[in-house]
Amino acid sequence: MKRILALMTAAVFMFGMATLGFAGIEKCEKCHKGEKTVDKMVEKNKIATADDLKSLLRTGPKAGMHKPLTDDDIKGAADTLKLK
Ligand code: HEC
Repeated sequence: MKRILALMTAAVFMFGMATLGFAGIEKCEKCHKGEKTVDKMVEKNKIATADDLKSLLRTGPKAGMHKPLTDDDIKGAADTLKLK
């Protein structure tokens, strides 16, 4: 019984983390799919911090594409991507 309870707690916890994580890049995923997922973009552009991500999206060559995104969207994405 105890084990089942522990398993259920773990499952609920993981589900919660997964939905939270997903919410962070949900908006990005409207455009970033397949070959161009955000984590691939981050890797390709050598983005290491949340500030790097923000300044690239605000002032980079593709700033126009990212205009509708709020600071919170970018911050959420940075959290999900585990940028500092
Ligand atoms: C309206 C569509 C759209 C949305 C929404 C969007 N992007 Fe993009 N993004 C693009 C396009 C188009 C490119 C250029 C892709 C390419 O270079 O092939 C791009 C490029 C990028 C790049 C590379 C930047 C560069 O200058 O080359 C990063 C990093 C990125 N996006 C991150 C994000 C993140 C993080 C989000 C969510 C917070 C997001 N994008 C949301 C369309 C979008």
